[in-house]
Amino acid sequence: MRVHVADHPLITHKLTVLRDKSTPSSIFRALTEELVTLLAYEATRLVRVEEVEIETPVATTTGVAIGDPKPLVVPILRAGLGMLDGMVKLLPSAEVGFLGMVRNEETLEPSVYAERLPEDLSNRQCFVLDPMLATGGSLLAAIEYLFDRGAVDVTAICLLAAPEGLAMIEQATADRQVTIVLGALDERLDDHGYIIPGLGDAGDRLYGTVS
Ligand code: PRP
Ligand code: URA
Repeated sequence: MRVHVADHPLITHKLTVLRDKSTPSSIFRALTEELVTLLAYEATRLVRVEEVEIETPVATTTGVAIGDPKPLVVPILRAGLGMLDGMVKLLPSAEVGFLGMVRNEETLEPSVYAERLPEDLSNRQCFVLDPMLATGGSLLAAIEYLFDRGAVDVTAICLLAAPEGLAMIEQATADRQVTIVLGALDERLDDHGYIIPGLGDAGDRLYGTVS
């Protein structure tokens, strides 16, 4: 598994504002979109391209275009939806599939409540969006979903991760092509499976509390 932790003052600055409990949802949403665009730059480093010949006003030259099949971007609802616009701005030709997952806050086990993905992902590069990688249960379930349908490699973009969840995913996907791009690797999980220092519940901070 390839792990890239962003090391850039702009990313750390934006994450600091996100973490602050006094930051309102409107700013939280705007910063999430900006952060995913910055992280997507690294996450798409190995996106498949194909050579194309074009005419500039003065010459013929060879450049590249995003290859086929087009990459698939998969936000994990709810919180991953806050990252979608930033990602598709950078990768406008990508297709988008959706996975709705919720973690049981007592057992910490994820369950899937919605799914809208192509049946056949053979030879597809997939980019999963979820701001939080805590125990790793939700992300691992999403990764397995995509590989089961034929994806060749999966890159996840997360704003924050806990070392425990990252290690679990590394162990569980040892024979797969998985990349994880992070805004920051935090200290640990607390007794309730929350990332410390973290930013709280990402879905609630983006969209308000659901009960
Ligand atoms: C959050 C988060 C991840 C998951 C991470 O979603 O967005 O999907 O928890 O936890 P894990 O690594 O321990 O699985 P949540 O279940 O709170 O749903 P929401 O996005 O609807 O708020
Ligand atoms: N989900 C969140 O939204 N935040 C955490 O810290 C852990 C899981």
